[in-house]
Amino acid sequence: MPPPAAITRREALALGLGATAAAGLSACTGSPPKPGTRPSPTVVATPSAVALEPTVRDLSLRIWAESGEAQIREGVSTTVHRYGAEVLDGDPASVAPSDSYLGPTLHLRTGQRVRVHFENRLPDGASIIHWHGLDLPQDQDGQPSAAVEPGSSYDYDFVVANAEGTYWYHPHPHMHTGEQVYRGLAGLLVVHGESVELPSGEADIALVLQDRTLTSDGSLRYVSTMQDRMMGFVGDTLVTNGVEGYAVRVGRRPYRVRLLGGTNSRTQYLTLSTGEPLHVVATDGVLLPDAVRVPGLVLTPAQRSDLWIDFSSARPGDRIELLTAPTFVVGGGMGMMMRGMGAAADEALPLPTAVAATFVVGDDAPEPGTPPSRLGAPPALAESDAVNAEAPKEFVLTMAHMSHRINGRQWEGLVADELETVRAGTVELWEFVNRSPMAHPMHLHGRHFRVVGRSWDSAGTEASWASIEAGVVESGLRDTVLVWPGQRVRLAVPFGEHRGHFTYHCHILEHEDAGMMRNFRVV
Ligand code: C2O
Ligand code: CU
Ligand code: CU
Repeated sequence: MPPPAAITRREALALGLGATAAAGLSACTGSPPKPGTRPSPTVVATPSAVALEPTVRDLSLRIWAESGEAQIREGVSTTVHRYGAEVLDGDPASVAPSDSYLGPTLHLRTGQRVRVHFENRLPDGASIIHWHGLDLPQDQDGQPSAAVEPGSSYDYDFVVANAEGTYWYHPHPHMHTGEQVYRGLAGLLVVHGESVELPSGEADIALVLQDRTLTSDGSLRYVSTMQDRMMGFVGDTLVTNGVEGYAVRVGRRPYRVRLLGGTNSRTQYLTLSTGEPLHVVATDGVLLPDAVRVPGLVLTPAQRSDLWIDFSSARPGDRIELLTAPTFVVGGGMGMMMRGMGAAADEALPLPTAVAATFVVGDDAPEPGTPPSRLGAPPALAESDAVNAEAPKEFVLTMAHMSHRINGRQWEGLVADELETVRAGTVELWEFVNRSPMAHPMHLHGRHFRVVGRSWDSAGTEASWASIEAGVVESGLRDTVLVWPGQRVRLAVPFGEHRGHFTYHCHILEHEDAGMMRNFRVV
């Protein structure tokens, strides 16, 4: 097996692996908040139920991106970008405003026709909305080539094909997605469909997990060093549902907790402060066959995981914390290089934890539940279903010439090469092979695939992987998959009927912006 490409000293420095920055293998820009350093939450959110009309009718929305002010840290005003939305025609409950910089949560219905008039009201910068995870035609997908300048608009008109689940929307202009998302442009999109045996109404809550760095005057600090660009930007403050120190009131019964990894680059390992296992019921919007019990949960940028959490055994007034640890690793070919620089070889990740959100338990009578089963029936997608079962396509992730690449190439606009060309309605095996020193969460637009294999292409990072592996849930479908350094991850991807170009990319937004993005073309 070929060793991962050696990287130059200049590249190592760009990754922040200079003598002072090389702290073991968990090189992380900006140290994560320590437990206890977070101000105790003073604002406790009370969830409210969404009351959608019983019958589905067409929906017409106006959504705009604009600049504004928000309080991320209590008492401090921060200039942000944000989405606003209004219902022009249709169910008024389709748009649920947020009280932070986050865009309103959009409640859409399976089979619903949705029209969206998007207006770019930003002071500068082209933008466009991408509906992450929705299966849509190319001109509805919000691709970089569709971005519109300030003062201009884009009109969408599509039918929601996805079944019920947790999605999100965010900008996608080439080279500026990271900054626009970081400044606040993102929102949840919940598809409502056939009813499922999961807690609903007030017991259906969502947490958008992000991180930010605020300067002393309250402004947002974004990428400022080459290291931020190469590693991806990591904020020093955990921000959940748009605020630092988020807390939410819960009753003593089971909840559906929808999680979105809304970070630019931080991959998180989530646990409960009670030490209880987590029950995952859906991944990237798709219900699992049965709840999967894990000791902790890995959530990369753009991934969603819906949890089932039963608070019935908690005592009134308990504060149960959702803890998060960053999982950065730099390894592979870097391991040898780092030893030269005084750092250790691959080892278990330290997994320091900080609080992402607090559940404040109420004093209602307990109503215990049991973990749900027989939820969804995602397609099996066996390797033998693939048209290239004998010859999987290989997409090699590397870092060369100070940039992250896919098969040696970067974004070239609306083009796809032969390897990237697929036939509508077929299943293909794709392998992402990571010969770079960093983990990459790889995403395909509008496709839910099955992870059918994960093996080692080169040695060096097994120990760090072993420390988070139990939290990787891949028994259902995903649209974003974590590819650890040294790994070969095999996917069975069912390509749809929409012809045209669709992007696939690393969802570390700084990598995507720097060109770690290509298209697949459906013919
Ligand atoms: Cu969240 Cu190109 O996607
Ligand atoms: Cu997407
Ligand atoms: Cu990446």
